[in-house]
Amino acid sequence: MTFRSARLLPFVIVLFCVGCLLIAPAFPAIAATQAEVEEITQQWQTGAHALNDVNCASCHQAEETKAFVASPNQESCQSCHESAVETFLLGKHGIRTLEGESPLTPAMARIPMKHDAFDKQLSCNACHDVHTVNTMQASVESCLTCHNDNHSLNYENSKHAQGVLSSSLPRPGAAQVTCATCHLPRTATKKTDGTVVVKVNHNNTYTLKPRNRMVGEVCMNCHGVEYSYNSIFDDELVEANFDRPPTLEHESFELMRAAEQRRSGNASASQEDSE
Ligand code: HEC
Ligand code: HEC
Ligand code: HEC
Ligand code: HEC
Ligand code: HEC
Ligand code: HEC
Repeated sequence: MTFRSARLLPFVIVLFCVGCLLIAPAFPAIAATQAEVEEITQQWQTGAHALNDVNCASCHQAEETKAFVASPNQESCQSCHESAVETFLLGKHGIRTLEGESPLTPAMARIPMKHDAFDKQLSCNACHDVHTVNTMQASVESCLTCHNDNHSLNYENSKHAQGVLSSSLPRPGAAQVTCATCHLPRTATKKTDGTVVVKVNHNNTYTLKPRNRMVGEVCMNCHGVEYSYNSIFDDELVEANFDRPPTLEHESFELMRAAEQRRSGNASASQEDSE
C-alpha cells in the first residue's frame, strides 16, 4: 500500500459508513432506512466484531475492487474465518455451494422443514445474525427457523435444553448442550507454541455417521461410554431428543460384561446392575 492510500484509508472507511446512510436509497438491494442502519450499528457495537475492530467495510466492501457489497456472502468472512468456511462447505449445509450449485434451501429437503423458510438459502447468515454475532442465537433458535422434525422440536423438552433456553448470555458455555454441541462440535487444537485454539467444526454431517462418532466426540465429554451408547443407539430416545435416561442395554456391553465375568470367575456379579 502506498503512503498516500494508507493516509486516505481512515477517511475511506468513515466515508463508507456515512455512505451507508446517504447512498442506501440508491441501492435497491439494501433498501435500508437510516433508522435501520442505526439499529444495525447498535447491534454491531455490542458484539465481538466491534471489539476486534471489524467494521462495516470489513464485510461490505470488496477487498480487491473496493466496490460496495450490499449482501455479503461467505467470501467476505473467508479471509478471517478460514476454518469455519472450509468446514461449512464439507457438510450437507454447504456442499452444494462447494460444488458450484445454487445454495441448499429447505425446499430441497427430504426431512420436515418449516414452510415459511422454504426459500431461505444456506449461508453463514442463515444461522448467524451477522451484526450481533450472538452465537447463542445461532446454536438453537436459528436451527429451528428451518428444522421441523420431531427430534428437533423435542429438544426443548430435554434436560439439555433447560440451562440453554433460560440463558441470556451471548455465547454458549462449555457445560451447555445446544443443537450445535452435538451437530457442530467444538474442536480444540494445540498449536506449536502450546496455546489451545477452540474452533467450531461447521460440517453438520461429521458427527452423524458413523453414529458412534458423536459418542466419542461429544457425549463422552460429560457421560460414560455405556450411558452414551445406550442413549444414541435407541432410536426412540434420539427422536425424543434425550428427554429421559436410556433403557437400552447395548449388546456389546452385555458381551463385554459376560466376558469380564468369565475371566474373573464371578458369575454372581451378573445379578447386579452396574449402571
Ligand atoms: C461480519 C460482516 C458484517 C459486518 C461487520 C457488517 N455487516 Fe451489514 N450485512 C452483512 C451481511 C452478510 C448482510 C446480509 C444479511 C442478509 O442478507 O440476511 C448485511 C446486511 C446489511 C444491511 C441490509 C439490511 C439487512 O438487514 O439485510 C445493512 C443496511 C447493513 N448490513 C449495514 C451495516 C452497517 C451499517 C455495518 C457497520 C455498523 C455493518 N452492516 C456491518 C455483513 C456484515
Ligand atoms: C476482518 C476480519 C473479519 C471478518 C471479515 C469477519 N470476521 Fe467474524 N470475527 C473476527 C474476529 C477478530 C472475531 C473475534 C475473535 C474470534 O472469535 O476469532 C470474530 C468473531 C466472530 C464470531 C464469534 C462471535 C463470538 O461472540 O464468539 C462469529 C460468529 C463471526 N465472527 C462470524 C463472522 C461472519 C459470519 C462473517 C462474514 C459475514 C465474519 N465473521 C467476518 C474477524 C472477522
Ligand atoms: C436455512 C435453513 C437451515 C438452518 C438455519 C439450519 N439448517 Fe440444518 N439443514 C437444512 C436443510 C435444508 C438440510 C437438508 C435436509 C435434507 O436433505 O433432508 C439440513 C440438514 C441438517 C442435518 C442433517 C445433515 C445430513 O448430513 O444429513 C443436520 C444434523 C442439521 N441440518 C443440523 C442443523 C443445526 C444443528 C442447525 C443450527 C445450528 C441447522 N441445521 C440450521 C436447513 C437448515
Ligand atoms: C448451521 C448454522 C451455522 C452456519 C450455516 C454457520 N455457522 Fe458459524 N457457528 C454456528 C454456531 C451455532 C456457532 C457457535 C457454536 C458453539 O459455540 O458451540 C458458530 C460459531 C462460529 C464462529 C466462532 C467459533 C469459531 O470457530 O471461530 C465463527 C467465526 C463462525 N461461526 C463463522 C461462520 C462462517 C464464516 C460461516 C459461513 C461459512 C458460518 N459460521 C456458518 C452456526 C452456524
Ligand atoms: C445430545 C445431542 C443432540 C442434540 C442436543 C441435538 N441432536 Fe440432532 N441428532 C442427534 C443424533 C444422535 C442424531 C441421529 C444421528 C443418526 O441419524 O444416526 C441426530 C439427528 C439430527 C438430524 C438428522 C435427522 C435425519 O433424519 O437425518 C437433524 C436435522 C438434527 N439432528 C437437528 C437437531 C436440531 C435442530 C437440534 C436442536 C433443536 C438437535 N438436533 C439437537 C443428537 C443431538
Ligand atoms: C456438556 C455436557 C454434556 C454433553 C456433551 C452431553 N450431555 Fe447429556 N446430559 C448432560 C447433563 C448435565 C444432563 C442432565 C443430568 C441430570 O440432570 O440428571 C444430561 C442428560 C442426558 C440424558 C438424560 C435426560 C433425562 O431426562 O434424564 C441423556 C439420555 C443424555 N444426556 C444423553 C446424551 C447423549 C447421547 C449425548 C451425546 C450425543 C450427550 N448427552 C451429551 C450433559 C451433557
